[in-house]
Amino acid sequence: MFETEIVTVDPQAFDPKALAKAATILRRGGLVAFPTETVYGLGAVIYNRASVENIFTVKGRPGDNPLIVHIYKQEQLAEIALAVPEQALILAQRFWPGPLTMILPKKERIPAEVSAGLPTVAIRLPSHPVAQELLRQTDQPVAAPSANLSGRPSPTRGSHVITDLSGKIEMIIDAGPTGVGVESTVLDLTSTRPRILRPGGVTHEMLEAVLGAGTVDTPSQINISRPLAPGMKYRHYAPEAPLRLLTGEVEPVRRFLRETVHRQQQAGKRMGIIAYDEDQVAFPSTAEVSFFSLGQRTNPAEGAERLFHVLRLCDQVGVDEILAVAPPRQEVGEAVYNRLFKAAGGKVEEIT
Ligand code: TXA
Ligand code: MG
Repeated sequence: MFETEIVTVDPQAFDPKALAKAATILRRGGLVAFPTETVYGLGAVIYNRASVENIFTVKGRPGDNPLIVHIYKQEQLAEIALAVPEQALILAQRFWPGPLTMILPKKERIPAEVSAGLPTVAIRLPSHPVAQELLRQTDQPVAAPSANLSGRPSPTRGSHVITDLSGKIEMIIDAGPTGVGVESTVLDLTSTRPRILRPGGVTHEMLEAVLGAGTVDTPSQINISRPLAPGMKYRHYAPEAPLRLLTGEVEPVRRFLRETVHRQQQAGKRMGIIAYDEDQVAFPSTAEVSFFSLGQRTNPAEGAERLFHVLRLCDQVGVDEILAVAPPRQEVGEAVYNRLFKAAGGKVEEIT
């Protein structure tokens, strides 16, 4: 058990000195949770093998699920990757700092604990000012998975991290909501064609706009039994209540929501709905229903920002079942769809 120190910083205006202790803890082999522009990360210096192992213990993370190495300047790529292909340099130039993780062959010096024994390593350069300053002061690459307990929704608020990890790590840096809200795009650059292993803030279209149309593979079907990234095989992002993901035209889906909520309530179930502002009309104001909005359908970024918070709210309210309306699979909406699909156990229901 630790007395976890919680440091609150304003990401727009903070004194770099506020992060000095956090950097010291990391350098000495401790664990610090810190904000990035996607989700909060749970960091350890990659060369401290015991600390990296401790990340797995604290999260309850399966040992075969590799971590992402975080850097603050492109020059650190050469320290970590055995070879940096031209495409990686082009993508780094265009999307770093930002929510893109690249998988490259790893240098021998990268401990097996970081890469879970794989010959490759995931690398990302975050854009969040607090993450950048912390990494700069630490001046060592930092391995960081999302700072949640394994299987729980990723943390997008300091409070989420406090809920999951308080008492288990040395320090939590709370800088408020993260912004993008879903984890980085994971792009494998070690096979013949670049391949998206996990959709995120940097979309397929954005990648092809840089690398050329038709050059980037994207898994059309997420196959849970044959995962691309080791981490994709576990039930993930999941609130405690079972979640059903619904697709279809707006009106039939609304009707289905209304009828299902009514029926389940008759059966004494507490229902949670995850949908859009516009869908609230489906429910008479008298209906007792926990309605959580992903904002406006036409604004995928808003949905991404809210998604994990909303999943956690469902747990807080203590609903028995969640019905989630699938987002339009455009822009970052594809990543939101992917997370909901996984939270639903890899199923989606077509409503007609
Ligand atoms: O936005 C993010 O990426 C956040 C913030 C904290 O940076 N981090 C994050 O880490 O989401 P994590 O550990 O929750 O997810 C990392 C994903 C996992 O699915 C893992 O299997 C995959 O990246 N991964 C890591 N190294 C890999 C490798 N060498 N080959 C294939 N997949 C890899
Ligand atoms: Mg994670």
